[in-house]
Parts: sequence; structure tokens; C-alpha cells
Amino acid sequence: MTSHIMPTYNRLPVIFERGEGVWLIDTNNQRYLDALSGIAVCNLGHAHPNITKAICTQSEKLLHTSNIYNIANQEILADKLISKSGMSNVFFCNSGAEANEAAIKIARKYGHEKGIKNPAIIVMEKSFHGRTLATLSATGNAKVQQGFGPLVEGFIRVPYNNVMAIKNALDTNKHIVAILVEPIQGEGGINIPADDYLNQIRNICDQYQILMMLDEIQSGVGRTGQFLAFQHNNILPDVCTLAKALGNGVPIGACLASGKAAEILTTGAHGSTFGGNPLACAAGIAVLDTLDADNLIALAQVKGDSLRAKFAEQLAANPHVIDIRNKGLMIGIELDRPCADLVKLALEQHLLINVTNESTIRLLPPLIINETESQQLVNTLVAIITDYTAKIH
Ligand SMILES: Cc1ncc(COP(=O)(O)O)c(C=O)c1O
Repeated sequence: MTSHIMPTYNRLPVIFERGEGVWLIDTNNQRYLDALSGIAVCNLGHAHPNITKAICTQSEKLLHTSNIYNIANQEILADKLISKSGMSNVFFCNSGAEANEAAIKIARKYGHEKGIKNPAIIVMEKSFHGRTLATLSATGNAKVQQGFGPLVEGFIRVPYNNVMAIKNALDTNKHIVAILVEPIQGEGGINIPADDYLNQIRNICDQYQILMMLDEIQSGVGRTGQFLAFQHNNILPDVCTLAKALGNGVPIGACLASGKAAEILTTGAHGSTFGGNPLACAAGIAVLDTLDADNLIALAQVKGDSLRAKFAEQLAANPHVIDIRNKGLMIGIELDRPCADLVKLALEQHLLINVTNESTIRLLPPLIINETESQQLVNTLVAIITDYTAKIH
């Protein structure tokens, strides 16, 4: 059959028809354990009754008005985000890339208001910020940029988890207005920086009077064991971007800002037709309420640490497994060589995983995963890795 979809994805040979919690069920009624959550989106699992109810109820009343009117659900969701994050203001959009676009615009306007005509933003090697022109230019992956030049200018790249490199960049370039960084790099390979990396960045941003902007699109909304990953560090960034899990599958993005960054996008400076519409916000409200009601954020830490310990124990004797790391339920198992083939092998065993940065198995299971399902994930994946690495000579 000829597909009329642009071939932007190498798709795996399966079609899912429905979901139940951590399970996806395909068109042949086969069940798969989803350890990826649609890449950190379905943190509450599939077909969660609270989300289903919220969007059904809202869709019977109103889907969309426009941002030229007040939107009650948007105000409610913003209040909840502010009280959970400590930030001050929110701009709603529809995706992660759009949330980062808003952040980049805030940084540039902040620079212009300080009289800097060519503002630049420090970004990291191995980062991922999206596929729009500005966000792919910010992204630290040549493959993502290949063929799309000229890139958007105004990004200065430094190695991740390297504070000296940031200071050096700041000392040689007086146009820098912000640092944009992921608290944990997801696409880059589940790279977890030093415990005080974000604290040090906060200090540098204060010292140089530049904006600290965190891309929490993958790490946010409870995944790492705090609502936002920066909350492990007891700091507050100036800007923080969210998307993915905020709607549990209903598209929504948000750019949160605090302090001097909160009032930069003034009337007419930015906009979105769909951003923060009543339906998307109803989903967001239900997501935040459910995370709290079921204590899922604290549990993400416990479940993630327990998964890591089990993998570490069962893979300890495997010389091809060089690192197992996690922050809550953001888990990476790094092999000593490229292992993208594992994704297909896992699919054959009805397990959904992903490999990033060529050699790191990425696990982002739903936060609702239970003990039995976790054990099944460990047993299945350990057997797959063991079998795969046994064939390496
Ligand atoms: C850290 C990070 N930023 C931005 C994005 C882009 O989000 P979206 O695909 O919703 O535009 C992603 C998506 O993987 C991401 O992981």
C-alpha cells in the first residue's frame, strides 16, 4: 500500500488501536508493555479515566474560542502551574518547539530592552529543543540541522555539564542574554549533569544578569520525582518550557517565566490561535490534579530508583553495559556500542523502548507503572540485552 505521509519517520511495523494504563493493544489484539509513554507524553498511561472524563466533559461544552477572549480553563491551569512551580506567568502554545520559540523570543527581547542589538543565547552540545528553524538551530545535533541552512543565528554552543565553558563564553562575548539548557538531556542520551550544575548556572546567570532558561519538555511534569527537575536543586529559573506530559497526549505546550522575564512578552508580542484552548487546558488541569491525588511524583522517584537497582543487579556481569543511570523514571542503560537494533528486538517481545545517542536504551515508562509491570519490564529487557550482547564477538 502506498503511503501518502511524508516519510519523516522510520516507523515500526505496528499499529496501535487502544491503550489501557501501561499497555498498548495493536490491531491484532496483541498487548505491548509501553516503557516509552509516547516519548514522555503519556505519564498517566493510556486512556486514563480522569483525562478521558475531563476531555469528554469539556468537548460537550466548548472546544475553542480564541485568545481574544478570556478562557477560564487557561486561568485555572496557569494558577496550578504557578503554584506548583513557583514561576509567575505562563504563555500557552501547542508543542515543545513552540514553547522554546517563546523562550527564545523572551531572551531576544530581554536583550533588546538592555540595548543589545545582536543577542546571543548559550546552548549545549547534544541538546534537543525541537524542529522549527529557531529550535533546530539551538539544538546540538548536526543531523537535525543538516540541509536546513541558513540556520537562525544567535546561538553559542558549549559542552553540556561544563560550567567553565559557560564562563569562558560569557567572558568573550558581551552579547549573551540567556542560557538555554535541559536539566537532563533526553534525546542526547539521558545525560544527567553534576548535582550542582543547575545551581552553578543560576549563580552565573545572576552574576552576568542573563536569563536562565530550562527546557523541561521531557524532564518536567513529574517524571524525575519532582514536578519540575529544577526543583531537585532548590532554584528558580527565569524561564521554563513544558509540553509533552502536560496534556497526557492532548497537544499543549507552556512557557513559564518568573521575575524580570515574566513581563517581557507584552500585548501583541506573541500569540497562538490554539494555544491554551479550553479542551487542551481541561486535559492539563486533569493531569496536574491526578498527579497530586495519586502521589505519582514522589512515587516516580521510588519506582525509578527501584528499576535502576534491579537492572544494575541483573546486568552487573554484562561487560557491554557500561552505565545505568536515572533520575526518577527517566532511565538510561548505556551499552559500549550502537544498539538501535534493540528497539525492533524489544518490539518482537512486545516491549516498547527507544535508543538515543546511538548506544543508550531510553526508558520513560508511565508514572502509574506498578510493581508487577516493572518486574516484567526488567525481566523482558534484561533477557533481550543479554541475548543481544551474547552475540557480540
Ligand atoms: C527537551 C525537548 N525539547 C523540545 C522538544 C520538542 O518538542 P515537540 O516535539 O513537542 O516540538 C523535545 C521533544 O522531544 C524535547 O525532548
